[in-house]
Amino acid sequence: MAFAKQVQVTEEIYDYVLDHSLAPDAVQRALVDKTRALGRSAGMQVPAEQGALLTLLAGVVRPKVAVEVGTFTGYSALCIAKGLADGGRLLCCDVSEEWTALALDAWREAGVADRIDLRIAPALETLDALPSHPHIDLAFIDADKAGYISYWEALVPRMRPHGLLIADNVLYGGEAVDPAPGSTAEAVHAFNEHVKADPRVEPVLLPVADGITLARVKALNEL
Ligand SMILES: C[S@@+](CC[C@H](N)C(=O)[O-])C[C@H]1O[C@@H](n2cnc3c(N)ncnc32)[C@H](O)[C@@H]1O
Repeated sequence: MAFAKQVQVTEEIYDYVLDHSLAPDAVQRALVDKTRALGRSAGMQVPAEQGALLTLLAGVVRPKVAVEVGTFTGYSALCIAKGLADGGRLLCCDVSEEWTALALDAWREAGVADRIDLRIAPALETLDALPSHPHIDLAFIDADKAGYISYWEALVPRMRPHGLLIADNVLYGGEAVDPAPGSTAEAVHAFNEHVKADPRVEPVLLPVADGITLARVKALNEL
């Protein structure tokens, strides 16, 4: 059975994974500590192995234009910024001045603040105001789950052919598989169904962290 190939990740295996992956740098480690001091909301930060994956993916895509929907204290943005092309820019969308103040400090410390544009507004307003032609190379969706489908619909037509869309929390702690009616998990499941039915992309749902969907945007001649 194919499922037998799935490793059940124990704490020991998780430590081994981290020990053999790109490690967070000093600014990222300090940001994790500062974010932890916020209490429960710190759980929104992407974990280290996902951060390493984001850096790797951005380093492969080398985006000239990247977009992040849901920035919080800026950890995932730091990871993506590491992979930007020379002269590349990352647009970050969030509604919280308070949380993103920590992000701005960390980006300054990391020397990437001049490559990141932060917009404080509901993300859909920011996305809808972007040029409508395909110009985004990489997009990462990690904000309110009820908004995922509208973020997707705003982003896909703006993605360059072969661009990469990344969506976080697509397993939602496993609840997306059998979501309770009206729950956030139901919104996540609806998003997953939406992506699956979208002929414009090739998606892969990875059981990494809380579930990550990677989707390559097809070129016109592939549709
Ligand atoms: C899961 S956190 C993002 C975590 C971040 N990617 C990281 O790694 O640290 C979700 C963020 O989405 C933001 N958010 C929630 N609703 C939003 C909206 N409608 N528009 C923009 N940002 C929103 C929240 O303020 C929060 O900072």
